[in-house]
Amino acid sequence: MEPPAERSEVQSPSTFVIGATAPVDELQSSAVTESSSYLTATAEAYDAVAVRYAEFVRGSLDRLPLDRAVLAAFAEFVRTAGAGPVAEVGCGPGYMTAHLQDLGLDAFGVDLSPVMIGLAREAYPDLRFQVGSMDALDLADGELGGIVSWYSVIHTPPQELPPYFAEFRRVLAAPGGYLLLGFFESEGGPVVAFDHKVAPAYRWPIDDLAELAHKAQFVEVGRMLREPHEEERFRRGHLLMRRQ
Ligand SMILES: C[S@@+](CC[C@H](N)C(=O)[O-])C[C@H]1O[C@@H](n2cnc3c(N)ncnc32)[C@H](O)[C@@H]1O
Repeated sequence: MEPPAERSEVQSPSTFVIGATAPVDELQSSAVTESSSYLTATAEAYDAVAVRYAEFVRGSLDRLPLDRAVLAAFAEFVRTAGAGPVAEVGCGPGYMTAHLQDLGLDAFGVDLSPVMIGLAREAYPDLRFQVGSMDALDLADGELGGIVSWYSVIHTPPQELPPYFAEFRRVLAAPGGYLLLGFFESEGGPVVAFDHKVAPAYRWPIDDLAELAHKAQFVEVGRMLREPHEEERFRRGHLLMRRQ
């Protein structure tokens, strides 16, 4: 893997990408598709780059006012509902979990990568972080007031994603738990795989992700698309959903 040190490749927290895009069907033969294998591969890939990734994302939200606006709206909905703590699933080095805490939420982070979790604990010793997968959370039914998946479902093979929404539904308070997704949007095309610098990843049509959530009994509260900022490559999608 190439290091992310070249300025031309350094974009935004989750744009850790190189190479061309390709239709999902084209890449599926070479992608790791067995559930446990892709989770292990993703964890190992992020373990290997965790320190550089943490440096790469430090302060990135400062440059992204629209992202901050979506997060602030999510936080306000969750605070108003008062339904429980917020899990940032796929928290990486924890800066987003800390941002959620700063927005007045009782936030904690979960990530597949033990090295990422170690860095998050070191950087934010007052916050809780745990190793785990977002498709099998070590949480009770209805325990959470909110979930943020900020560029973390991007690494899940599309055919594996429906159970993730079922798990989000299980752990969110009913009714009234909120789910916020941040992801790379496919700009009118179908789900498309691209060469991410760390692990295989996918861009999604915002309507398709919303539909997956609807099927898991979420209703849409709102959505925000924004164009790439400075050196980012892809349009960004943000979906705010509420559990029924
Ligand atoms: C692109 S990084 C995003 C990290 C952070 N949310 C941010 O915005 O910088 C994706 C993160 O999701 C984690 N991840 C991917 N699949 C996961 C899963 N099934 N469960 C938990 N974490 C996962 C990876 O280990 C990685 O830390």
